[in-house]
Amino acid sequence: MSSKPKARSPKLPFVFVNMAMTADGKIATANRAVSSFGSARDHEHLLKLRATADAVMAGARTVDSAAINLGPGPARFRRLRLKNGLAAYNLRVIVSGSGSLNPNAEVFKHRFSPIIILTTGRASKAKLLQLQAIADEVKICGRREINFRAALGWLRRKWGVQRLLCEGGGELNDSLFRAGLVDELHVTFCPIIFGGRRAPTIADGRGFGRLAGAARFRLKTIRRVKDEQFAIFARS
Ligand SMILES: NC(=O)c1ccc[n+]([C@@H]2O[C@H](COP(=O)([O-])OP(=O)(O)OC[C@H]3O[C@@H](n4cnc5c(N)ncnc54)[C@H](OP(=O)(O)O)[C@@H]3O)[C@@H](O)[C@H]2O)c1
Repeated sequence: MSSKPKARSPKLPFVFVNMAMTADGKIATANRAVSSFGSARDHEHLLKLRATADAVMAGARTVDSAAINLGPGPARFRRLRLKNGLAAYNLRVIVSGSGSLNPNAEVFKHRFSPIIILTTGRASKAKLLQLQAIADEVKICGRREINFRAALGWLRRKWGVQRLLCEGGGELNDSLFRAGLVDELHVTFCPIIFGGRRAPTIADGRGFGRLAGAARFRLKTIRRVKDEQFAIFARS
């Protein structure tokens, strides 16, 4: 990526969301068994985007449901990160309001960079102790729900996060959209249909109830490569 836009507020990180989506608007199958369906090129795209971020963030169900480590990937991407003026390894941020995260999830088996868990007052003492044992920092950012504006401000101040890449899932994305914190949305449109009323989408959770309140973006670029399209939407 040649140009790196900045966050609207100097106190917050620039937040960009990257998701692969089927032609019918799903990000996984209804039974959650399949969530990886993009091409090798899409995977390369994901790693290139990570190479522009100080931190990569994901929700508890994304981290639980797949063998992912949220890291920079092979050495050539770590070199790219250094070229981009970033640390060789990105920070990793995981969101779990109730502390329901699976402590045996793959991400915790890779200790190459700090793991920060954002949680709430809903997490029990026992859960907090469990999370503290597997993370480098556990931050309570709200009583019942995470206050993302405050949490992101804290990530910027305490951990120096200037560019935060959110990789889903739909519930976490929805929270960020509703809080008005998403600066850019990257979507890979993939030529496959999953169907299924309960299949997750880019933004699930509570959503917006009125057209006037909806999060609005403008199409910045769209690029077709073979059967996929890579789009970037910027907050309007
Ligand atoms: N195609 C793609 O690009 C892509 C990318 C990512 C994920 N996925 C797929 O998407 C699915 C997961 O999406 P999902 O929507 O079910 O889950 P998710 O967003 O990954 O995680 C949801 C969990 O995150 C926590 N959370 C989210 N927002 C919160 C808030 N405002 N306050 C407190 N906690 C909050 C909660 O954890 P607690 O329950 O612990 O409170 C919630 O249950 C998986 O199938 C995954 O594979 C696909």
